[in-house]
This record gives sequence, C-alpha cells and structure tokens, in this order.
Amino acid sequence: GTNMLEAAHSKDIELEGACEGSCACSTCHLIVMDVEYYNKLPDPTDEEIDMLDLAFGLTEMSRLGCQIK
Ligand code: FES
Repeated sequence: GTNMLEAAHSKDIELEGACEGSCACSTCHLIVMDVEYYNKLPDPTDEEIDMLDLAFGLTEMSRLGCQIK
C-alpha cells in the first residue's frame, strides 16, 4: 500500500523522509489537520512514538507520514 509519505511525494508535496519509511528518523513528521481522520488512524507503535518525541514542533495530532496511510 501507499503510506502518507509516498502519497505526498506522488503529489509533489514536500515532506522529507530521510530513512525512507523505516521509522528511524522524524523528518516525515506531519500534523494531521482533520480530527476525524486522526481518530481513525491506528495507534502509533512504540517505535513511532519514540521517533515522534524527537520531532520538531510536536503536537497532539502529530504522526510520522511513513507510518500512516
Ligand atoms: Fe523516516 Fe518516516 S521517513 S520515519
């Protein structure tokens, strides 16, 4: 399937992805703008949470783009 990082790239939306989706960086950090969508997403794994902790400007609706669809 296509994750948010790949979807963004396919639409020429700028989102970094230094580790190319292996949940080993936080450059694909994005903030979900839609509460309903956010609530539908599966909970982040411990790995994602650890990486999010390092993300700049972390919010309650932050996720790693490569970890959500
Ligand atoms: Fe590195 Fe998503 S691209 S964690």
